[in-house]
Amino acid sequence: MARMLNIALPKGRLGDNVYDMFEKAGFECPSIREKNRKLVFENKEAGVRYFWVKPSDVAIYVERGAADIGVVGKDILMESKPDVYELLDLGTGKCRLAVAAPEGFEDDPEQTLRVATKFTNMTRQFYASTGRDIDIIHLNGSIELAPILGLSDVIVDLVETGKTLKDNHLEVTQIIDYISARLIANKSSFKFQNKQIEKILAALTRELENREETN
Ligand code: PRP
Repeated sequence: MARMLNIALPKGRLGDNVYDMFEKAGFECPSIREKNRKLVFENKEAGVRYFWVKPSDVAIYVERGAADIGVVGKDILMESKPDVYELLDLGTGKCRLAVAAPEGFEDDPEQTLRVATKFTNMTRQFYASTGRDIDIIHLNGSIELAPILGLSDVIVDLVETGKTLKDNHLEVTQIIDYISARLIANKSSFKFQNKQIEKILAALTRELENREETN
């Protein structure tokens, strides 16, 4: 019998949504709903073992084969370019990667622009394409604080509802890219566990098509 497929899900709201999709697609694992702090859940009959991983670590588990497949934001794929296959856009976890500035901010092209962000590679690439001279300040979270405290002029961050920006008197000035959750696979697993992965891929694709029809 084929071995269980290891699936890395991003811990948090996105992961909960994504697990629902796997469940509807026929790969349920009821123990995952139990309220405890376990990190690994398996359903031998369905042939799946899920584990919760910090969202930014999913691609590392998949790239190194500790997980056969996983779900990760496109932002992480673009920022760290892991060596994995991207199989499917799951159409959830939608947001934008954007430049945001204090309301009324006017950019002075004579000055180096100070940009605070978690996404240093994408930010560098974006400003290189516009020819703008920047100074990157790498932060790990609460990026919106930087312009408020004068640490940076603008930020590059994910915007979902826009509420965090609004509540901090910031506004989007440029959209860099549109982001959503992606199903990814380890390259060697995709070869050797291909049947199982293709089965999940087909079921999730059907599940997405059903969703679109009911919307
Ligand atoms: C993300 C992002 C923004 C916020 C955007 O932060 O970095 O801060 O969500 O969401 P909104 O547009 O719906 O307000 P997250 O909560 O992941 O925490 P972080 O500050 O640690 O990045």
